[in-house]
Amino acid sequence: MKIGVLISGRGSNLKALIEACAEPDFRGKIALVISNRPGAAGLAIAEAAGIPTLVIDHKEFASRETFDAELDHALTKAGVEIVCNAGFMRILSDGFVEKWRDRQLNIHPSLLPAFKGLHVHQRALDAGVKITGCTVHFVRPEMDEGPIVAQAAVPVLPGDTAETLAARILEAEHRLYPLALRLVVNGEARVVGEHVVLSDADGAEATAPLFVPGI
Ligand code: GAR
Repeated sequence: MKIGVLISGRGSNLKALIEACAEPDFRGKIALVISNRPGAAGLAIAEAAGIPTLVIDHKEFASRETFDAELDHALTKAGVEIVCNAGFMRILSDGFVEKWRDRQLNIHPSLLPAFKGLHVHQRALDAGVKITGCTVHFVRPEMDEGPIVAQAAVPVLPGDTAETLAARILEAEHRLYPLALRLVVNGEARVVGEHVVLSDADGAEATAPLFVPGI
């Protein structure tokens, strides 16, 4: 299955996905990495792995729709079948989201539906939660919403700052995103009535592999 990855910055989740795709039994290949920001560090990670990259700078487009049309054109031209948002910090238009419905994943650094949006780690600390984490979900028009494929729980520890908590969650993200993408490319994660149903290779209903890193 051909995968397209959308990034805006550092690209550490992209790196985790590249490593997963290199595993011999992984049935997906990253065909294209697109950044909406020229100079995003993740572009160099993709180039070092020999993956085609493209910059589509949103600032050069008059509207969200024309930017998204260019994105869609590039993904389609590359034969992409599933899109992974990996630190892609742009809201996508409804038309784009509908076109890629159930074929577009996002990773978010909280246990959705808690703490959608930005500044999630500070907001989790401010709320005093003892457990937070990260979520991989199918994308829907509403920001950080959509059927959940997998989640990882991460403890909030005494003395945590937004930075230490973000670093602990990021480690979990690097394990969770490959795991969730593997379920999707294997056809083991299906959307049924806006929930994700997991099945094993034989089609029997299954639960998400559970891990609670950091304890
Ligand atoms: C990750 O923590 C990801 O979960 C977050 O941006 C970071 C990107 O890091 N995404 C969001 O907040 C989307 N709502 P990376 O570029 O190193 O993968």
